[in-house]
Amino acid sequence: MVKKPEKNRDVVAPQMEAEGDFVEHLESQSVGLAAAVFPVLEATNRATETPVVWRKVAQEQGRRAAAAAMWKLQETLNSPASLGPVGRGDQGEPLWPPGWLGSISHSKELAVSVVGLEKDFRGLGVDTELWLSPERSKRVRRRITSEQERAVALPVFGSEAYAVTAIFSAKESVYKAHFPALRRFFGFDAIELVKASATQLHFQVRWKPLRDLCGDSLKVAHWSDRSSILTCRVW
Ligand SMILES: CC(C)(COP(=O)(O)OP(=O)(O)OC[C@H]1O[C@@H](n2cnc3c(N)ncnc32)[C@H](O)[C@@H]1OP(=O)(O)O)[C@@H](O)C(=O)NCCC(=O)NCCS
Repeated sequence: MVKKPEKNRDVVAPQMEAEGDFVEHLESQSVGLAAAVFPVLEATNRATETPVVWRKVAQEQGRRAAAAAMWKLQETLNSPASLGPVGRGDQGEPLWPPGWLGSISHSKELAVSVVGLEKDFRGLGVDTELWLSPERSKRVRRRITSEQERAVALPVFGSEAYAVTAIFSAKESVYKAHFPALRRFFGFDAIELVKASATQLHFQVRWKPLRDLCGDSLKVAHWSDRSSILTCRVW
């Protein structure tokens, strides 16, 4: 269960707020998935926290979440795939032990990992973001989203800042899920949000190499609590 953070209490929760047991939500996406969430802020000394310290702690907690999720899946499936450390590739991507695949994300609040076996999935991508403030959202919205995409997401998320955060997170999840197969960078206009519901974001794939890989459309699941949104792409 993700603990409710002390800060951001004043942030109005989006309409579709789901009390966030993110692990349960992630694992409900598919049989053969395991997930783990570890706190980040609580693992730092708040008084002396610097961006460098925070990043190091977040990365360590992300690796712990990955190890915990792999351990859990191996126990559940009695899988022969052996556990091992998760490395880092030259493009920042996690390098999983043989037979495994997965994804890692961290924010100032939490680190999350979702894992599965290569025989069951082609790619997994997870992302968590703290809700953007309206000011920050205004600064970044045009780089990440189109006006049309924001209009699609607004009725579900209740404010433009929440809508921009959600689209951003979903696109990051898609990038993480597909990069290992594509081995190519792709930008925020590679996919376009065309439909949004309380649990899923539906995208049309605009960039041909990605379309060749996974088809014309794709879905990303989302959940949120007062401080964060979590998105996950499974394919
Ligand atoms: C790589 C990227 C997605 C990471 O997202 P982020 O929000 O900055 O950071 P997060 O904490 O959520 O995720 C970091 C984790 O992503 C993973 N990651 C980094 N690069 C990756 C890649 N190329 N492929 C898959 N996973 C990657 C790593 O596990 C990393 O954690 P670690 O360093 O502890 O191992 C982001 O920095 C980026 O480059 N985005 C631009 C590309 C994009 O999103 N395009 C949109 C396509 S629709």
